[in-house]
Amino acid sequence: MDTMKAFAHWISNRSVAWTVVAVVTIMAGAGLFQLRNIQQDDDILAFLPKENPDVGLFYDVNKRFGSLDLALVGVETEDVFDPAFLGRLKRVTKELKDISGLDHVLSLANVVDFRPDLDKGGIVTAPTIRTIPKTSEEIRDLRAHVMSKDHLVGNLVSADAKAVQVLCFLAYGADPREMAAAIRSKVEEVFPQAWPLQDGNITCQTCHDVLLPMKADPLLQSANPAFLRGAPYETLSDFCFACDCVVFN
Ligand code: HEC
Repeated sequence: MDTMKAFAHWISNRSVAWTVVAVVTIMAGAGLFQLRNIQQDDDILAFLPKENPDVGLFYDVNKRFGSLDLALVGVETEDVFDPAFLGRLKRVTKELKDISGLDHVLSLANVVDFRPDLDKGGIVTAPTIRTIPKTSEEIRDLRAHVMSKDHLVGNLVSADAKAVQVLCFLAYGADPREMAAAIRSKVEEVFPQAWPLQDGNITCQTCHDVLLPMKADPLLQSANPAFLRGAPYETLSDFCFACDCVVFN
């Protein structure tokens, strides 16, 4: 009891109390300063002990074969089997593969197909899309063939044929954030940001998106206060004139 009394007496001493306030303020300030260095790590492996033989084996497999980190890219369109879209998909698949840090890229444009060889017997492997279809018959045949494959539908192409998925397998040691940025900029280059309609109608999302405000860089976050799609624009009328590519193209 006496010690508590003595402590209360000591702590209510003016200079001691101010010292406590000062120390807490300095520590809070230092904490705020260090906030800048906080890093988010969502890699489950990072939380497992590396000395554990099973975890070590897992690392070893990853090092030799890669492919533990996978970036999923979804691209929506009106019709996946539109030759113009398939051409772009082929291009993006090829050009993504050239990014250093990506081991392998898989999409409808390069996925391998197994067909029975009717002449010689056995099975032949060939790309599912050997050439981009040109005539409406070729498009129809390709659509029927692809949509009949259980392993493609729901994985590389959506059941309504309005979206594709591109799988990007990261090489061992590649930085996931850097790779995500490189992949995003390549995909946006090949599929320029469109002005999406919902059921043919202009909605809020036609003109607005939240990509810039979600960037890590605080400057970029505030660069687009009106959330305008395709921002930043130098003047608001630059945004307005973007319309002519939709209406008159
Ligand atoms: C035809 C394109 C278009 C559509 C559709 C549209 N907006 Fe906008 N919106 C704009 C433009 C352009 C601005 C910026 C006006 C300015 O800076 O003066 C804006 C500004 C805003 C702002 C103000 C941001 C700020 O800085 O104060 C909000 C909020 C907003 N829109 C929400 C919506 C919502 C919600 C919808 C759907 C109901 C919608 N907008 C539909 C073009 C559009």
